[in-house]
Amino acid sequence: MKIAVIGSCMVDLIAYTDTVPKAGETLVAKEFAMGCGGKGANQAVAASKLGAEVLMMGRVGDDAFADNTLANFEKYGVSTEHVSKVPGVSSGVAPIWVDADSQNRILIIPGANMHLLPADITAAKDQLKQCSMIILQLEIPLETVYAAIEFGNANGIPVLLNPAPASTELNIDYACRCDYFVPNETELEILTGMPVDTEDQIAQAAGSLLAKGLKNLIVTLGDKGALWMHGGERRHITAPSVGAVDTTGAGDAFIGCFAAELAAGTEVEAAIGRAVSYASHSVTGKGTQTSYATADEFSQWQTAAG
Ligand code: RIB
Ligand code: NA
Repeated sequence: MKIAVIGSCMVDLIAYTDTVPKAGETLVAKEFAMGCGGKGANQAVAASKLGAEVLMMGRVGDDAFADNTLANFEKYGVSTEHVSKVPGVSSGVAPIWVDADSQNRILIIPGANMHLLPADITAAKDQLKQCSMIILQLEIPLETVYAAIEFGNANGIPVLLNPAPASTELNIDYACRCDYFVPNETELEILTGMPVDTEDQIAQAAGSLLAKGLKNLIVTLGDKGALWMHGGERRHITAPSVGAVDTTGAGDAFIGCFAAELAAGTEVEAAIGRAVSYASHSVTGKGTQTSYATADEFSQWQTAAG
């Protein structure tokens, strides 16, 4: 069965620079790369590279970036029947700066992504009902995210929500209706208004969501791995240590791999372990999708890493 990703497509314009300019300053950067990105597309491509069948639902603009995005999905075998062009609108674009510490700063210009509407979910209902899971992020209108959660709930399809980028506007009651809610620490802090400096604080913030009926909360912790909480249980899954080159899209690598593992029948804790490793591998390469391993590349890397 397919995984449905209802989310964003962006074109990433990445500058690798030792120093980030201040207001009024012009600096020369080291290198530039353009790549297909957007949290939704990244998650879809990661899952597909790992062998999952993926249906992407999204909107691209009326420009050259749109054809590039569609061709990229086709290259990776992601179904694009529900990715269409919006006339007179630009594609989503993301200028990204990656600094000397391989930390990124991202600006998102959503463009066509804001034209993915609740009615589009209704229009795709027959195909969506064939899916084993629905994956969502926050780079499309919130009403569409809510409609997708309602659709999943009404049709018994598990829903995963990755609340990225963090938004204080997200209605937490909807988030708690998801089967898997997967924020990073910053997103959890912004959404709950609670501190997340220690594992206990993270668990407390998470607890405030579990108390509202959320089934599974997975907090991604960067190089510290991930924390999974469900029912009264709490598990910390650690990450292998790697040399980071570019951390952009590591969270998306995590989600794509986690979804692909669940679709393949892997248990949640083991799926988180694989996803933590897969995301760790992704930070060793530049870019987002370009750094995601195929199933073969991933197992070779894991064997080499011991
Ligand atoms: O998560 C990384 C992604 O965030 C980038 O690909 C960029 O497009 C933004 O959506
Ligand atoms: Na990367």
